[in-house]
Amino acid sequence: MDAKLYPVSQDWARRAHVDEAKYQLMYERSVKDPEGFWFEHGNRIDWFTTYSQVKNTSFGGPGSPGEVSIRWFEDGVTNVAYNCIDRHLATRGDQVAIIWEGDDPSESKSITYRELHDEVARMANVLRNRGVGKGDTVTIYMPMIPEAAYAMLACARLGAIHSVVFGGFSPDSLADRISGCGSKMIITADEGLRGGRTVPLKANVDAAIAKIGGVDHVVVVRRTGSPVEMEPARDVYLHDAAEQVTTECPCEKMNAEDPLFILFTSGSTGKPKGVLHTTGGYLVHASMTHEYVFDYHDGDVYWCTADVGWVTGHSYIVYGPLANGATTLMFEGVPTYPSVSRFWEVVDKHQVNIFYTAPTAIRALMGAGEEAVKKTSRRSLRLLGSVGEPINPEAWEWYHRVVGDGRCPIVDTWWQTETGGIMITPLPGAIAQKPGSATRPFFGVVPQVVDAEGKVLEGACEGNLVIAESWPGQMRTVFGDHQRFIETYFSAYPGKYFTGDGCRRDEDGYYWITGRVDDVINVSGHRMGTAEVESALVAHPKVSEAAVVGYPHDIKGQGIYAYVTLMSGEVFTDDLRKELVTWVRKEIGPIASPDLIQFAPGLPKTRSGKIMRRILRKIAEDEFGSLGDTSTLAEPAVVDDLIANRQNRA
Ligand code: WTA
Repeated sequence: MDAKLYPVSQDWARRAHVDEAKYQLMYERSVKDPEGFWFEHGNRIDWFTTYSQVKNTSFGGPGSPGEVSIRWFEDGVTNVAYNCIDRHLATRGDQVAIIWEGDDPSESKSITYRELHDEVARMANVLRNRGVGKGDTVTIYMPMIPEAAYAMLACARLGAIHSVVFGGFSPDSLADRISGCGSKMIITADEGLRGGRTVPLKANVDAAIAKIGGVDHVVVVRRTGSPVEMEPARDVYLHDAAEQVTTECPCEKMNAEDPLFILFTSGSTGKPKGVLHTTGGYLVHASMTHEYVFDYHDGDVYWCTADVGWVTGHSYIVYGPLANGATTLMFEGVPTYPSVSRFWEVVDKHQVNIFYTAPTAIRALMGAGEEAVKKTSRRSLRLLGSVGEPINPEAWEWYHRVVGDGRCPIVDTWWQTETGGIMITPLPGAIAQKPGSATRPFFGVVPQVVDAEGKVLEGACEGNLVIAESWPGQMRTVFGDHQRFIETYFSAYPGKYFTGDGCRRDEDGYYWITGRVDDVINVSGHRMGTAEVESALVAHPKVSEAAVVGYPHDIKGQGIYAYVTLMSGEVFTDDLRKELVTWVRKEIGPIASPDLIQFAPGLPKTRSGKIMRRILRKIAEDEFGSLGDTSTLAEPAVVDDLIANRQNRA
């Protein structure tokens, strides 16, 4: 495949923090002398006590199986909220920290760093008065309003560990995530507002607590003002509680390796796991990538369209930008409300310079036509970014030509919840882009492509993507289950971090991520474990067995295809199909809605009873001509039935 090359313009090479020569030098040093490199760059954040140790990491492996331990800057003492707020006050107290754009285009506001300080300190005091302190976990279940960022930073200020749960998750999913980290405090809002529709956040919290108990306090932000049930002994409105406290709240002294947050994410098996990130290394990585990848300069207006419920919102709406003293835009709404021009209208309204979104949004807007884009100016835009899933070259080209008027480089950033920050990406002043390729590793990142046996492949090749060396933003453990951390990430290829992604490297050393090679699917940039959807389906009284796979979907990237076997005596009808979709939405949330459900009298299994997902994937992809070896099937005939009744037909 001969990909088109978009070279770095002279302008960009000149003005960017890093040009090609500097990238080469910095990258070489970062991998040959990580101690020296990170000793220097660890200082981009402020420390109360500076570190003398830089890197103390082991991925285990043949020599030390089971010994996985990752520590960066371990004797340093700092505080993330201090770095994101207090250290900026002297020089940029009156600068805008957060531009908030509401769901309704008539609503927006700007929050300066000084205001951010006061709001965060008040919220921290409200939490502290309710017993929250260092090491406690706090669940945040919020819409995209500034209070979501205040809540995260208030936790960081107190040394509490936050766990943000995406506001689109159901009460059941929320309940699992609350009990999964043992939070006694929840911060939420009365309701969320997206695309003109309300989301009953407080009611969902009530339902989750009714299921699991154990929550002592709920702090409720008034967003829509609709009346909600308040349990007097447990619930308080933030605006009432905040009146009782001051804006004085010292930052807790945190060790570099003290936990900062937990984020639950889907894996190939079992329940979502709590990815744990710590303080120092995470902030160094998030802030450094934000500055270099987006080539952030003072005065730029930067907008990442993610939700704070995902890692992208953590690292690139809140922590990276604010640590850099940036102006970060937070958007409550959706790309298509009130019209499909909304993104570009917001760009014009706030004169956005750097815009970072997901391929699924680009594909959806691409489908709505060029006119909706062209009628806006977008002259302020300088750089575009993409994250969350592979971007197909066609969408890349459209993003470049139509949105960026051919003027803006695109940074296609590959990374994961586990990696904390961007890992493989172009730097806009240094690396020529190829549509569809995440291009080259960021400083300190050592990607390798391995075959199924773990042999490291050289040159142009295709295989599985592993990372051979630790980097500062790496997750440290699975909360409460270090063994699961080791098994999930370090057992497939001992001594290396396994990403779960497939990847190709071309003759120029560019990386092309080909998608997950495990049972994780990526639906509209949302990561979903097929096992979770399966267990939601089998929880339905009429379902005896279910197998879920992904299939190519024009807009979502991947759609959810469910094969369902019913309890004997049950009949599959269109009504039952609808009922199952509603059921899954209620169990997990709308992002998990199956797109296609096929009734399967039997599932293809090996003689030992293992479902052959490879076959189910092929049928879902409408590629049943190439099923490969089916000779190990216990009952080959079930495959013919599945093919005959497949739901995805070209
Ligand atoms: C996928 C989101 C191709 C990948 C930051 C990864 C990508 C998973 C890209 C992590 C990209 C993310 N190109 N694939 N630029 N970015 N992915 O944890 O499969 O929600 O493993 O983190 O998204 O999803 P997560």
